[in-house]
Amino acid sequence: MVQEEIVRRKLPQVLPEGMTAQGFAAWRRDMVALYARECFGVTPPAPASVHAETMAEQQDDWAGKAAHREVRLSFEMEKGEFSFPVHLVLPHCGQPCPCVVYISFTPYATAGYQPIEEIVDQGWALAVFNYEDVTADNGDMGSGIAAMVSRKGSDSWGKIGMWAYAASRVLDYLHTVPEVDTRRVAVLGHSRLGKTALWAGAQDTRFAGVVSNDSGCSGAAVSRGKVGESVDDICRVFPYWFCENYQKYRKNEAALPFEQYHLLACAAPRPLYVASASQDEWADPASEFLSCCLLEEVYGLFGLPALGAPNPELPAPGGRLSMGQVGYHLRPGTHYLSRYDWVRALQFLRMRM
Ligand code: GCU
Repeated sequence: MVQEEIVRRKLPQVLPEGMTAQGFAAWRRDMVALYARECFGVTPPAPASVHAETMAEQQDDWAGKAAHREVRLSFEMEKGEFSFPVHLVLPHCGQPCPCVVYISFTPYATAGYQPIEEIVDQGWALAVFNYEDVTADNGDMGSGIAAMVSRKGSDSWGKIGMWAYAASRVLDYLHTVPEVDTRRVAVLGHSRLGKTALWAGAQDTRFAGVVSNDSGCSGAAVSRGKVGESVDDICRVFPYWFCENYQKYRKNEAALPFEQYHLLACAAPRPLYVASASQDEWADPASEFLSCCLLEEVYGLFGLPALGAPNPELPAPGGRLSMGQVGYHLRPGTHYLSRYDWVRALQFLRMRM
């Protein structure tokens, strides 16, 4: 199936000939720079320091299983100081815990999307921020963090880049939290925020694991030959998620200087989990899965299996591939970040991080 798809969709090579594990870090940096220039826009430098002010703290939340701390992070940017709130859930487990930075659609614990008890019961800490506390999800480049950096040209960052930058600032802060095992911090997001998680993980190798849930177009799904949403659709409706240069590829995927498995490859050799939903035709599960299938040679550089299946086929709804360093599942149902997705993704990462 994979070989046929490579031919049918005219997919570019995954890695250049002769790539080695030693050469991979430079390749990854170049790929990140290419994605910055042609897709998400250029990320400003990290601030010298991030200041955290605790706004509220509850020692025994979630049936007494975890502490809940609300902090406000602030840091200097080109045009002044920027700050946003983050919620931390710290299980009482007597030792530093692995943690997931969750880029959220909603404020802390308001909706489905965050099964906090299940996360805590698996021994994970959680750091949540609401993406619209960073910048509004619209074309207003004067909103939030967008106003803090001058826009210089066709590679000026889009909103996905801004949300990803915020995820890295949360990670800066986590490095000062003794309850968190900073070698084991993953980043997770759903849909547009799944694209964001992939971009955050590609740029910031301090993230020890990456989870993309239903990220679809310009996320995990191969663009060439994709069904459902296309580069043209996403650039028409959400141009502000990307830099202006990405517009060049509308109805012109063949000209893209990368494919989405290159974005995923930037996570290597770290564990990567990609989740799809069977009825999420807009995201196109088969194209999300195909990206995962093409990572074998990348993880192979490090002596690791990616999916690790000899002739991988898209699993039936409810099915999962989780033998290697890249995990994939196809949840039955529609576009959503469900408990099913959280629990499986975190189980997978827990054993590898
Ligand atoms: C739209 C968009 C997708 C995106 C999704 C979401 O459907 O077309 O690309 O992933 O919104 O973020 O929920």
